[in-house]
Amino acid sequence: MPKRFRVFATCDIGEALDVLRERGYEVEVYPDPEAPPKKLTIEKVKSGIDGLITTLRDPIDAEVFEAGKGNLKVVAQIAVGFDNINRADANRYKIPFTHTADVLTEATAEFAFFMMGVLARRVWTAEHLTRENKWSYWHPYLPFLGDEVTGKTVAVKDADFVSIHVPLIREGESDTPTYHLFNDRTLRMMKSTAFLVNTSRGPVVDEAALARALKEKWIAGAALDVYEKEPLPADSPLRDPEIEDRCRLYPHFASAARITRLSKDPNKGMAGRTVQGLIDVLEGNYGGDITKMPYVVNKEAFAK
Ligand code: GLV
Repeated sequence: MPKRFRVFATCDIGEALDVLRERGYEVEVYPDPEAPPKKLTIEKVKSGIDGLITTLRDPIDAEVFEAGKGNLKVVAQIAVGFDNINRADANRYKIPFTHTADVLTEATAEFAFFMMGVLARRVWTAEHLTRENKWSYWHPYLPFLGDEVTGKTVAVKDADFVSIHVPLIREGESDTPTYHLFNDRTLRMMKSTAFLVNTSRGPVVDEAALARALKEKWIAGAALDVYEKEPLPADSPLRDPEIEDRCRLYPHFASAARITRLSKDPNKGMAGRTVQGLIDVLEGNYGGDITKMPYVVNKEAFAK
């Protein structure tokens, strides 16, 4: 009889988990929306699970891998970003981890464009005016005018929009860290009419510097989907009413489209890709060669 694999998921990834259950896996899901306490994750890993399903809010490091010694075979992350997983530790313990690249590219890219439109046409202010009954009649330049997105430049130098699409790489992790890539110095390099859009990772932007940039009008506005600390703290300088009309804030949901997040088809959904990544490792697909498995990130630890 084939081995009955045991899996713990730190979050519910929906019906894609049935794919595992149908294959005879024993699947336990942490039911709450927040991350389970690390102590609990370690306890579950120590109990001898074969696979751990995680997401970007779960710190996965040597402590977790140590708890899984001898049993834990794979960490499958439902997210493209994996800055919560300590890659060097995973490699030291020779645990492959997977992610869900590609299936959320369109959802995230289109959301970044929506954010640009919201900024350039001041959509939030326009809706407020309408709701608050401050809109009078159609008029050539009232209540206010914005600018078209069409024909503008999206890039880094002299750009009208700077849209951030980089992984979070902290100091010491690489020669090209991205932590606080947008700071006092780089924000001041932007045009005063430019907008910043961030759908990548919050710590790529120094939020205190960005709040200053908006307050002192070094740039025209910013739209953020990700933050240095999530959920966004109540006392964040980004909530300052003085910059409210220029600072759009969203709840880390650029990839939050139904199919993108939850389809059990690994070619369409993050959930499906997570489950397939886990199955590949546990069931030894690709002849058991981890370096050939498409969703494994840290292939370098398994190169012969
Ligand atoms: C979301 O932020 C992801 O990395 O998938």
